[in-house]
Amino acid sequence: MRKKVIAGNWKMNMTPTEAAALAERLKNGADTDKSDVIFCVPATDIYAVSQAVKGSNISVGAQNMFFEDNGAYTGEISANMLLDMGVRYVIIGHSERRELFAETNETVNKKVLKAFEKGIVPIMCVGESLVQREKAVTIEWIRMQVKVGLFGVKSDAAKKLIIAYEPIWAIGTGKTATSAQAQEVCSAIRAVLAEIYDADTAEATRVQYGGSVTGANAGELFGQPDIDGGLVGGASLKDDFIKIVNY
Ligand code: PGA
Repeated sequence: MRKKVIAGNWKMNMTPTEAAALAERLKNGADTDKSDVIFCVPATDIYAVSQAVKGSNISVGAQNMFFEDNGAYTGEISANMLLDMGVRYVIIGHSERRELFAETNETVNKKVLKAFEKGIVPIMCVGESLVQREKAVTIEWIRMQVKVGLFGVKSDAAKKLIIAYEPIWAIGTGKTATSAQAQEVCSAIRAVLAEIYDADTAEATRVQYGGSVTGANAGELFGQPDIDGGLVGGASLKDDFIKIVNY
């Protein structure tokens, strides 16, 4: 049985002061027995939020990291820096990073490998654009993103991995994928995991849905057999996140 995992992706929102207050408010009321709960916050908020959630079962995650250990990479943050701050989860390859910061399946793969080498669990994001969905190449696209993203990742690691299926057209648009659309792709992700690894690995890996998840649609989405929780953007900054966690 896979435990649900519900992660908030706060994106580039909240100063450390605001972040601590939000984390304080959200931590009370979030049922962490039913689901693993992660706040993926801006790097500058990690310390403040870690302090705020102390004593709860909520984990603090990052939204990105670089694949080199150290060196002349101005502005980047390494896995060791995150680890030293207590971070155990990191979002890798969010579509905003792919679109706005030119991340490719290859850089995603390097980051996923580095995260596993250091003992940080990657939340690897995949998802199709509206044009790809309309051209009916969604499944092929997602299969390629998963295969390249996981190149060289061993099955023991893949069992701990979290994959977030996030259709780009559903992110921040208020247009949620239907539970049938989301289930179809999450099940295809599990099928490709079974091809790359084996049935055990495919059964163990957690696959989230992301894209306009709210307290109102979380139950329907998370009730699908291959959807193991969600990656939540906009609603993770509001009290609605508690409803999502306690769906
Ligand atoms: P959204 O964002 O919930 O605001 O659509 C999801 C995400 O980008 O992870």
